[in-house]
Amino acid sequence: MSRYRSNPQAVQALVRDREVHKDVYIHPELFELEMEQLYANTWIYVGHASQVPKKGDFYTTTVGNEPVVMVRHADDSIRVLVNRCPHKGVKVAAEGCGNTGKFFRCPYHAWTFKTDGSLLAIPLKKGYDGVAFEQTEAASGMAAVPAVRVYRDFVFCRLNPSGVDFETFFGDSLSTIDNMVDRSPEGRLEVAGGVLRYMHHCNWKMLVDNQTDTCHPMVAHESSAGTAVKVWNEAPPGTPKPMAVELFAPFVSSYEFFENMGLRVWVNGHGHTGVADSIHANYSAVPGYWEQMVAAYGEERAKQILGDVRHNTVYFPNLMIKGPIQTLRLFKPIAADRTLVESWTFRLVGAPDGLLERTLMYNRLINAPTSVVGHDDLEVYERAQAGLQARGRDWVNVARLYDDAEHGQSNATTNGTNELQMRNQFRAWARFMQPATTSRGCAA
Ligand SMILES: [Fe+2]
Repeated sequence: MSRYRSNPQAVQALVRDREVHKDVYIHPELFELEMEQLYANTWIYVGHASQVPKKGDFYTTTVGNEPVVMVRHADDSIRVLVNRCPHKGVKVAAEGCGNTGKFFRCPYHAWTFKTDGSLLAIPLKKGYDGVAFEQTEAASGMAAVPAVRVYRDFVFCRLNPSGVDFETFFGDSLSTIDNMVDRSPEGRLEVAGGVLRYMHHCNWKMLVDNQTDTCHPMVAHESSAGTAVKVWNEAPPGTPKPMAVELFAPFVSSYEFFENMGLRVWVNGHGHTGVADSIHANYSAVPGYWEQMVAAYGEERAKQILGDVRHNTVYFPNLMIKGPIQTLRLFKPIAADRTLVESWTFRLVGAPDGLLERTLMYNRLINAPTSVVGHDDLEVYERAQAGLQARGRDWVNVARLYDDAEHGQSNATTNGTNELQMRNQFRAWARFMQPATTSRGCAA
């Protein structure tokens, strides 16, 4: 019998002011509802325009559990199609990326489709004469995702044809994407260095919660980043500081550091750590970069751009961006207890190569399956996924620095160890876990 599908009030009751029920992380029926409702009602990151620079370029991925293909159409626009042949259901575009030319060709019966999804040709077409084929669903080709928005080359889509519009959904949170793009002297980013994929045997929300969890690094990463710092402290005086130490060391900063760095939240579940300071604030200068930025923007604006050192920005539901280090992490839901984490890196077009080198090293050290820091987190996620099955307790606590006045606030800043962003995410979760017709975002 259905516990949640037939009982929307029971879903809403899972989110309280200061705690959330364990079922949000472990119950398969809630995962199904998330795919049908939450991931269809909200704007989900698909990919970056630089992955499909030429007409016919495509990249296959998933939005929730929906297979999609992002493709550069003949008119140069970027389209997102559901990757499913309308004939027998085969995924038309091959897994990965490539160039399909002017059309997609299904590998099963060679039906072909223009890159906007419309049906182009069927072999032995006369077999469909006189059968009122045009009245069948297949005549309209591959389904195009109805709502697609390209924002400064970041491609998002909403699977439901109606719902909250892009600007209302993201509001001022887009300032983090702006800042990352503005760090290029040419105002442009390119995906560079491939992607690191890392399977996690835990619920996708554990990873999203972790992005603004500033009370864990000095504990969970003591054995990795803490050891790096210890070894560095024993280095003979005058030893040049390796880039790896510069990247590791801030992870084991004090509680006070994380309290003071601050947190900002926006409506609809978005927010970021690192308002006044962050673990990315004190990297050494890359020769030539500052001069390029001043030439492009003027000194005052360049200072403003590079002085904004946000730590992690969560774009609800499943995207995180780090502007100062040019990385993006996508938490792809696979099952209630399985998440594929993708970590992407970007080149600041026109900037010195040293910046990309630092970005790639950060990604390898922190996010790779072979990283030193990443599996500290994986270990605790998997222990939590197992521990939440226990009967002794039913709720997960998010009460840290709770304030009755926080409800509905947007653009508010607070102590960096506040669990406000986790509560913000769960309030958005409850709001978008609704049938499409009733789901609406909040305007800031
Ligand atoms: Fe961590």
